[in-house]
Amino acid sequence: NSQIWMEVNPLTDDNQIMESEPAAADDEFDSVDGDEKEDGKEEDGGDGDDQEEEALDEVDDADLMAMLARAAMAQGISLDWIMEQARHEGDGDDSESPVEYPFETMPTDLEGVAQFIQSDRCKRVLILAGAGMSVASGIPDFRSADGLYATLQANSLTATTSQREAIREDPSFALDEHLFLENPLPLLETKRDFILGTYEQRWKATLAHRFVELLHSKTGKLVRLYTQNIDGLEDQCTQIPEEKVIPVHGTMDRAECGRCKQRSSFPQFCQKVRSDIKDITGKDDSAPEVSVPPRCSNCGYPALRPAIVLFRSSLPKVFFENVGPDVKDVDLLIVIGTSLKVAPANSLVWRVPKSAMRLLVNRETVGEHLGLDFDDGKRDFFGAGNCDDVLLDLMEHLGWLPELEPLLADQKLPQSCADLLHERLVKLKGSGGNEASTADSTEDTEPTTSSDG
Ligand code: OAD
Repeated sequence: NSQIWMEVNPLTDDNQIMESEPAAADDEFDSVDGDEKEDGKEEDGGDGDDQEEEALDEVDDADLMAMLARAAMAQGISLDWIMEQARHEGDGDDSESPVEYPFETMPTDLEGVAQFIQSDRCKRVLILAGAGMSVASGIPDFRSADGLYATLQANSLTATTSQREAIREDPSFALDEHLFLENPLPLLETKRDFILGTYEQRWKATLAHRFVELLHSKTGKLVRLYTQNIDGLEDQCTQIPEEKVIPVHGTMDRAECGRCKQRSSFPQFCQKVRSDIKDITGKDDSAPEVSVPPRCSNCGYPALRPAIVLFRSSLPKVFFENVGPDVKDVDLLIVIGTSLKVAPANSLVWRVPKSAMRLLVNRETVGEHLGLDFDDGKRDFFGAGNCDDVLLDLMEHLGWLPELEPLLADQKLPQSCADLLHERLVKLKGSGGNEASTADSTEDTEPTTSSDG
């Protein structure tokens, strides 16, 4: 147990990707999803905070330094550099000092949020995105009722009985680094359709992605988009410079050996996946009945996989290098379509300055365990609903709808987003609203007819 605690404590949060709720069971693979883990903790007789304090108390300073040094070495980062970042992050964030918010009054609706974004007082905007941002494009998220984890059939995977049992109990175990090195097939079979869909460019960037693009091109205030998504859909937004995006869990644009790390051609890897990995969705008649994992041409092990971050492995160096400076002086953090269950990506929520406004755009409230508080009215605002709807409203208040219109003619939006935008433009024209000029020019614009999403 203590090892699991150590893996999720704030130090290793920075090094290994973990669900932010610690597992309580004796067997580390006995844990299920975040809620059940929480239940488990309570059964253990205590409130999570007390437990965490106790667990951290058990680790003395020498142990902490040793862990930090190991984490730094694993990333090729100097310990001095990490200590420097830690010092900067603490700057000006003394809990006793009064908080000076960048807004005059805390916005209470999206119109107010738009006014804050456009005001001179809002200079730096950071975005954290998750799977909900791509749902409208047709890619399911992980933890919703129709998400990957709830729909994954452990029995359909090529695995031992105990591996299947572990995946049944915690579906995220299918995406676990240690399991992959033991048996690569659960990962490859779970991700087959997604790997091939990415390769075929089956999905289109959503209105939520377009919001990020316009935020950058219209205001220049975007510090960075930290995305947990590996679909690379933000790349379709050509106005977002590459360096503005940090894919914290990697991207699907290359393949590598999970063992020796040798890079491999992504198209060739995809061909192997298509011809040698069975299709657990039952959609591809041409898929084989039995899976054979592709081998690395360098070390010969059957460990080829997309170069994405798996659970219990390290995040890319670019995350550690940028997160400290990026959170500094942020005025607004926008969190889009994520359950905030996975560390360390979710740490942005508490890393931004105490004065920063935090806007959550999601179907339900999340992140209370990280300090988000939508009731006290101080600095957290909840934009409830599908992110494309909410962000379209926000973009309307910002006066950005004219910039979206060409996406309809160019068929660059997923169908549901195209319909949403088209409807909005028609409505605005009908009401003679402040987008009248846009509406005029969209008179003949029909929604796209592509059948994605
Ligand atoms: P989750 O599936 O955990 O959370 C998605 C969140 O988005 C949920 O709160 C949904 O309710 C919400 N949501 C879904 N569709 C939405 C929509 N159209 N508009 C607004 N909200 C919507 O996905 P992530 O938080 O991204 O890691 O998951 C984090 C990480 O856990 C992933 O990167 C992945 C996963 O296991 C790895 O695979 C390593």
